[in-house]
Amino acid sequence: MSTFSFQTSVAVFTLMTLHVSALDTFIAAVYEHAVILPNKTETPVSQDDALLLMNKNLDILESAIKQAAEQDAQIIVTPEDALYGWKFTRETIFPYLEDIPDPQTTWIPCEDPHRFGHTPIQARLSCLAKNNSIYVLANIGDKKPCNSSDSTCPANGYYQYNTNVVYNKKGKLVARYHKYHLYSEPQFDVPEKPELVTFDTPFGRFGMFTCFDILFHDPAVTLVEDFHVDTIVFPTAWMNVLPLLTAIEFHSAWAMGMGVNLLVANIHHVHLNMTGSGIYAPHSPKVYHYDMKTGLGKILLSEVDSHPRNSSAYPIAVNWSAYATAIKPFPVQKNTFRGFISKDMFNFTELFEKSGNLTVCQKDLCCHLSYRMLKKEENEVYVLGAFTGLHGRRRREYWQVCTMLKCKTTNLITCGQPVETALTRFDVFSLSGTFGTEYVFPEVLLNRIQLSPGKFAVLNDGRLVNKNGLSEPILTVSLFGRWYTKDSHSISGSTSNLATTYLLMSTLLMITLQNIMMV
Ligand SMILES: *[C@@H]1O[C@H](CO)[C@@H](O)[C@H](O)[C@H]1NC(C)=O
Ligand SMILES: *[C@@H]1O[C@H](CO)[C@@H](O)[C@H](O)[C@H]1NC(C)=O
Ligand SMILES: *[C@@H]1O[C@H](CO)[C@@H](O)[C@H](O)[C@H]1NC(C)=O
Ligand SMILES: *[C@@H]1O[C@H](CO)[C@@H](O)[C@H](O)[C@H]1NC(C)=O
Ligand SMILES: *[C@@H]1O[C@H](CO)[C@@H](O)[C@H](O)[C@H]1NC(C)=O
Ligand SMILES: *[C@@H]1O[C@H](CO)[C@@H](O)[C@H](O)[C@H]1NC(C)=O
Ligand SMILES: *[C@@H]1O[C@H](CO)[C@@H](O)[C@H](O)[C@H]1NC(C)=O
Ligand SMILES: *[C@@H]1O[C@H](CO)[C@@H](O)[C@H](O)[C@H]1NC(C)=O
Repeated sequence: MSTFSFQTSVAVFTLMTLHVSALDTFIAAVYEHAVILPNKTETPVSQDDALLLMNKNLDILESAIKQAAEQDAQIIVTPEDALYGWKFTRETIFPYLEDIPDPQTTWIPCEDPHRFGHTPIQARLSCLAKNNSIYVLANIGDKKPCNSSDSTCPANGYYQYNTNVVYNKKGKLVARYHKYHLYSEPQFDVPEKPELVTFDTPFGRFGMFTCFDILFHDPAVTLVEDFHVDTIVFPTAWMNVLPLLTAIEFHSAWAMGMGVNLLVANIHHVHLNMTGSGIYAPHSPKVYHYDMKTGLGKILLSEVDSHPRNSSAYPIAVNWSAYATAIKPFPVQKNTFRGFISKDMFNFTELFEKSGNLTVCQKDLCCHLSYRMLKKEENEVYVLGAFTGLHGRRRREYWQVCTMLKCKTTNLITCGQPVETALTRFDVFSLSGTFGTEYVFPEVLLNRIQLSPGKFAVLNDGRLVNKNGLSEPILTVSLFGRWYTKDSHSISGSTSNLATTYLLMSTLLMITLQNIMMV
């Protein structure tokens, strides 16, 4: 086991020249795809069978791409694992992989399909972009031959990467990104460093990463802060986890906290709690989709600002701890109790009254809440909670969370467990915390897993407040903070060790499905 430093470095940085005049706004599309999965197998299928399945999925994506283009979308994002799913070993994924060249090679696969060997999927994607004159993002698998004298080269002689590709309107490959933060994916390798991938278009500068990457500093935060992207394109296969990490809830909060557009395409797979796609602007979600009832895919379209920072609606800069550190804490409650959200131990205190001012602390984090309910429902209990520390079983991510949430039942032991319905409306809530980090994501989740666009605001002193009258019934109001510099970075340095680690982890996780967050 060795430790390698998690330095930020520019692995890939594609800069395209602009040919077309700039646009102030553009139409974006995302497609939530109900992926056709392969049959369970322990032995690899043939390359032809792999291609057959990928083409079946592409047939569905093709109609979404055509619909998007007919409605004048400039770009469409399709989900992670959308061509073949997620349940593989290194061996069984292999027939699905193609060698994806560096975009600097200037390649239009649709016009020159044989230049880099057998690449039928890349050719088809490029033709879909070209024929429909639309930017297309897809997630496919890359294989890169390596030299057996390289000690990290896997036994089969290939690095295998979970990869996003983007084709422009002419079908040219303009960007390629290898996922860095794998989540239980023994079939893939971790690239040497987080890649910082951007591409410029007449409708703004784009950055991209994949699924679990969104929880970490690199490449996600660096793309926004140092590369000044306007829009992030984000394919994912996200398993919803209440109360804090449901796709629509966290992704909309990330767009707001980071001040960028975020285009999210999720897989649709109800049995694994995968649903929730959206187009999120910094000030508000534009459109989102959450569907646990049907097995159908769904296209979403919305007009968004090409340069959200220039918009008059662009949110003000926030000091997340200004209010909470300035006020005299409300009397700390005597009846604080411990409870768990997943594996994390929170300090909770109950909202006994119809209205009140409460403080609950854990170590250095104190969370303050002022609230007034329309009516105190007899069968509903809400608590205010604080958590600061390394999260979950893996204890790698440092979280700071202030949350007001509805308990599953009136038994306090159920506080923090998933609950999807509520009756209690609030005409006042104001949540703040003494955060040590500047990365805080404001979440509001309503009855039946809905967002609350336009009905809450973040003030520049860090308070998350109700806005525009009485709220709909509330499941949670949270300030979800990530303190990246306190993350624990010691991970195994060798790719093969990593693969083993992920394999073991994945086995563990399959056993305790409860703890799976996302693929
Ligand atoms: C899975 O197996 C069934 C039965 O053999 C077959 O009809 C079907 O086409 C297979 N599906 C895939 C994706 O290969
Ligand atoms: C693109 O258009 C060409 C010619 O019009 C056609 O032959 C080809 O099948 C189309 N490909 C795709 C993927 O739409
Ligand atoms: C592998 O590395 C060795 C030593 O660096 C070199 O001599 C050989 O040509 C390389 N082989 C390939 C296929 O790149
Ligand atoms: C899906 O979510 C529900 C409630 O949020 C949970 O009880 C269930 O275990 C989840 N299913 C999986 C497969 O994670
Ligand atoms: C909008 O922002 C972009 C880059 O973020 C900048 O180049 C451009 O000049 C701005 N346009 C206006 C009208 O302010
Ligand atoms: C935020 O506000 C607090 C309290 O007023 C102050 O101590 C701190 O320096 C501010 N932080 C930033 C980054 O301005
Ligand atoms: C909560 O505090 C505010 C001022 O900080 C005060 O106006 C209000 O009366 C308090 N509410 C309760 C129920 O104590
Ligand atoms: C949780 O709250 C109790 C009561 O206020 C306090 O004694 C304890 O220190 C808190 N736990 C942590 C880990 O801060």
